[in-house]
Amino acid sequence: MTDETQTYRGCIFNLDGVLVDTAKYHYEAWRQLANSLDFDISREQNEQLKGLGRMASLETILSWGGIYLSEAEKMHWADVKNNWYIGLISNMKPGEVLPGVLYFLRQVREKGMKIALSSSSQNARAVLKSTGLEPYFDVIADGNTIKRQKPDPQCFLLPAEAMGLPPAECLVFEDAPSGITAALLGGFTAIGVGRKENLKQASVVIAGFENLRIDSLLAQHSERVFI
Ligand code: G1P
Repeated sequence: MTDETQTYRGCIFNLDGVLVDTAKYHYEAWRQLANSLDFDISREQNEQLKGLGRMASLETILSWGGIYLSEAEKMHWADVKNNWYIGLISNMKPGEVLPGVLYFLRQVREKGMKIALSSSSQNARAVLKSTGLEPYFDVIADGNTIKRQKPDPQCFLLPAEAMGLPPAECLVFEDAPSGITAALLGGFTAIGVGRKENLKQASVVIAGFENLRIDSLLAQHSERVFI
């Protein structure tokens, strides 16, 4: 049960790089695509793809390689990359959920708060299924329902609405700078997951979920008391 003084009644989690380390699989598949077109991409470049959907990621990668393709060719390569990616995630196991995530999700549940996923990936459900995370979520918003790229706040407004909660009552957990901006533009409280220097706009930055207590996060944001 949520208590009457609890400001926040829902949590919205990004997936890739926040709950599971799928960023490495996206990188592997995008790199294979770049290599097939005779160039390479670095891990640092891959960081810039965080928060971008499939076609926007492809456009960005092609611009790095100075490659011009027709729309039909782009669709072809996006499908090729996706098939490689699906091959990589099909072997994912519950052990690939990042440290502390399950315990944190259980704490959120015990607080009576709702839990939503917000991911630009069209494969988010497959990842949740193979890692056993799916039952924790009341709402799933993914690349099939979210149509506008971050920093547009649609990615968080859709799941908040589906949970029946206003943005002011939701905590957003994000690892992409564009996602933090999207959360703030939407009126959410943004918790950065990763390194402080990359997530300067976030209200709080956490390294990950290990040893994280929902009570201490709520206490840090208790100034916005809900009446
Ligand atoms: C897409 C992009 C990927 C990006 C991800 C963000 O995933 O392809 O580069 O990192 O969104 O979550 P896809 O829909 O292809 O699974």
